[in-house]
Amino acid sequence: MNNADVACLLFAPLTIRGFTAPNRVMVSPMQQYASDDSGKANDLHLVQLGRFAMGGAGMVIAEATAIEPIGRMSHTDLGLWSDEQIEPLARVASFISSQGSIPGIQLVHAGRKASMQAPWDGMGPLTQADMARGEAPWETIGPSAISPGPGWQVPLEMTGADIIRNVGLWASAARRAADAGFRIIDLHGAHGYLLHAFLSPISNHRTDRYGGSLENRMRFPLEVVSAIRAAIPADCALFYRLSVLDGIEGGWTVEDSLIFCRELLALGVDVIDCSSGGAISDRTSDVRVRRGYAFHAPYSRAMRDGLDDGLVATVGLIVDPHQAEAILRSGDADIVAIGRELLADPNWTHHARNVLLGESYDDWPQEAGWWLDKRVGALRKLQDSGETPMTRYQDSTM
Ligand SMILES: Cc1cc2nc3c(=O)[nH]c(=O)nc-3n(C[C@H](O)[C@H](O)[C@H](O)COP(=O)(O)O)c2cc1C
Repeated sequence: MNNADVACLLFAPLTIRGFTAPNRVMVSPMQQYASDDSGKANDLHLVQLGRFAMGGAGMVIAEATAIEPIGRMSHTDLGLWSDEQIEPLARVASFISSQGSIPGIQLVHAGRKASMQAPWDGMGPLTQADMARGEAPWETIGPSAISPGPGWQVPLEMTGADIIRNVGLWASAARRAADAGFRIIDLHGAHGYLLHAFLSPISNHRTDRYGGSLENRMRFPLEVVSAIRAAIPADCALFYRLSVLDGIEGGWTVEDSLIFCRELLALGVDVIDCSSGGAISDRTSDVRVRRGYAFHAPYSRAMRDGLDDGLVATVGLIVDPHQAEAILRSGDADIVAIGRELLADPNWTHHARNVLLGESYDDWPQEAGWWLDKRVGALRKLQDSGETPMTRYQDSTM
């Protein structure tokens, strides 16, 4: 597609493997901390993700979902370590599809950053004190026995046998995700979780074939990607969320990411979903990647410029329809992922279409769209007559 020929890129359909998304807005994965130790999805997940689909987002990615219980961040995370977890998620995927959006799900193993409190309980490591809420800490694992920060556990260093077993868990969870009806599997390879922990020299001090050189540090994540690609149907897309840089002296760099992404694309990854930071538990790395508008755009741009093929997504304070369109048009990314702005307004995508392509309610679910169309006429008449919502109350002393 020649971008210059397309009136509006944000609403240009996007075909990836076996599906065509109606637009390039992707709901960034957002944990709801709303499950329980069963790891099963419930009505909150259905409604939260469902309203993003009703709101018009082209791709709706469900939150980081653990491949095994110790790979959860908190006690309230979703999981796909058992077949029993498929059915409640299938309900979510089916509803998203019914609204014309493409359902996706992020898979995670939190590694040494597992066993955490929910944000509203402090977002720190679980300790015995959290038992008062019934949330016992559990032993974490990682590439090396290095704690992610003060007060955090020292993880158990994974053995070669642990690594082989872990690769199998990723593949089984991905197969369950595909069985549940998700068309996109997004691997959480960012924010200091297990895949990222193997890549970064900050957290990986191994001396075997999984540590040391860049080639060795990439080995485990690449084995995971190969196993997943073999476990899911060919028409299921694979996205990889990557911390493009650690932002820490001696850490993972943009140049490392380019080398790694070439390997990912060769193994059948379709989209590099660009994020950053998280290699250590404190938030200093967040400070080093300044949180301005579209704060990952320079990094998605670096990936897009440095890679011969594949698609690139960017995320981070994308709040405005013109900004989203400019990101795509400038070549900074092929997909815009949006998180908090969609929490503020789940209908953001529909509103963006109205801003960029003119007021129309044809793409809204008809249960709302039919009435909103009539509402335009009613409001216009009132505006023409000079009446405002405060006309009746203008003399009020309230
Ligand atoms: C409530 C919440 C939960 C999040 N959970 C995840 C997650 O499960 N996986 C992930 O990769 N990022 C997660 N993030 C990060 C977002 O996906 C996104 O990258 C970040 O919020 C920046 O985008 P924004 O400025 O549009 O919100 C979460 C963010 C929020 C606000």
